[in-house]
Amino acid sequence: MRILVIGSGGREHALAWRLARAGHQLLAAPGNPGIEAVAECAAIGVAEHARLVELAVGRKVDLVVVGPEAPLVAGLADELRAAGVMTFGPGALGARLEGSKVFSKQFFARHRIPTAPFTVAATVAEADAAVERISALGASGVVVKADGLAAGKGVVVAHDAGEARAAARAMLEARRFGDAGATVVIEQRIAGREVSVLALTDGTRLEVLPAVEDHKTIFDADRGPNTGGMGTVSPAWITDAIQSRIRSEILEPTLRGLRAEAIEYRGVLYAGVMVEPSGTPYLLEYNCRFGDPETQPIMARMRGDLGAVLLGAARGEMPVGALAWDARVAVCVVVAAAGYPDAVRTGDPIGGLAGIDGEVTVFHAGTARRADGQLVSAGGRVLGVTALGLAVDQARAKAYAAVDRIELAGKQVRRDIGARPMIP
Ligand SMILES: Nc1ncnc2c1ncn2[C@@H]1O[C@H](COP(=O)(O)OP(=O)(O)O)[C@@H](O)[C@H]1O
Ligand SMILES: [Mg+2]
Repeated sequence: MRILVIGSGGREHALAWRLARAGHQLLAAPGNPGIEAVAECAAIGVAEHARLVELAVGRKVDLVVVGPEAPLVAGLADELRAAGVMTFGPGALGARLEGSKVFSKQFFARHRIPTAPFTVAATVAEADAAVERISALGASGVVVKADGLAAGKGVVVAHDAGEARAAARAMLEARRFGDAGATVVIEQRIAGREVSVLALTDGTRLEVLPAVEDHKTIFDADRGPNTGGMGTVSPAWITDAIQSRIRSEILEPTLRGLRAEAIEYRGVLYAGVMVEPSGTPYLLEYNCRFGDPETQPIMARMRGDLGAVLLGAARGEMPVGALAWDARVAVCVVVAAAGYPDAVRTGDPIGGLAGIDGEVTVFHAGTARRADGQLVSAGGRVLGVTALGLAVDQARAKAYAAVDRIELAGKQVRRDIGARPMIP
């Protein structure tokens, strides 16, 4: 098949790499220097919908895989389908599960999907009352979320009611996230351990992928501000029993809910789940696309023809059980640029990639090729160093040995990816 992957991050590199390994011919837009090794890249940005549709039609691609959330929320999959292009990724209606936290929380409530108790607020007075109400539910804390897309920065996990009120005020009045914060969700903090569970769906069937644990804050031991994700481990720590509760209590009711609301959903349902110490899962949010950096370890372990499964999903007849999994554990350590996640420094030369071997794959995220051919940093998260090992400790050791060889001035790396015990 000829497959077009849209996006330019580590997730898209991992997807293109896996699809190319299954023998498909890859196009990417816009791609990145890592993707160039496995795909023909077209210099078209993810917001240029008309040009992307033209590329897909003109090159007669059999399938388009849309990587990032912003074009999905903006309706790119609808436009591709309207032009007769088979597309993996939900239309704008389904993508609201990620694009609006108000819509998604209300959807969870409508379909009795376990989630933290919440209130929606559009004014400071409403927010103050909501913080009051949620605080009264228990001492665990209050979380404030901007309604719209905010690149993983629109959520504040507050330590007390004062901080929660201030966070809501900054979003609603000071418009800290622009229109994305014109409405906020205020919800109870759930204490527990997080896990990402991604499922492929054609709107009817589910193919639940192995669970992944992400590490979201910039510093070790979950300190510092949240990032897009600093490292991942798969399979994750959850037991089979917890995994099957996530399927039956969260994913299946979601699919039933989508169908009940006549929303056709062909793409990834990525559940961000908080698991209480008792083992009870709560849905924090949905993303409407593959995770980044969750996709890197998933693709490192995946066997079988992903292209056939994604095409089946795009057609509404997804084969289930067609994928197999390497028994080894995969660890992905993100190498981030100086200044990330705030004022990112770019343009630093990257060295040391040559000689990193077969059990370690370096997925490019924020990289670019300078006119003289030198690879340089071009974004906050620069590389995703992904290693396989018989156990998590071996995978970690291999990933960090490769990370230590990589030269990038001011590089930021968490040292504790995969260090938490793999037991609940
Ligand atoms: N109710 C909650 N209880 C505890 N932590 C939460 C809660 N909601 C969000 N968080 C934390 O904030 C992070 C970001 O929230 P999330 O809803 O995933 O939004 P986004 O990914 O869009 O920023 C989560 O990964 C989790 O660590
Ligand atoms: Mg999230």
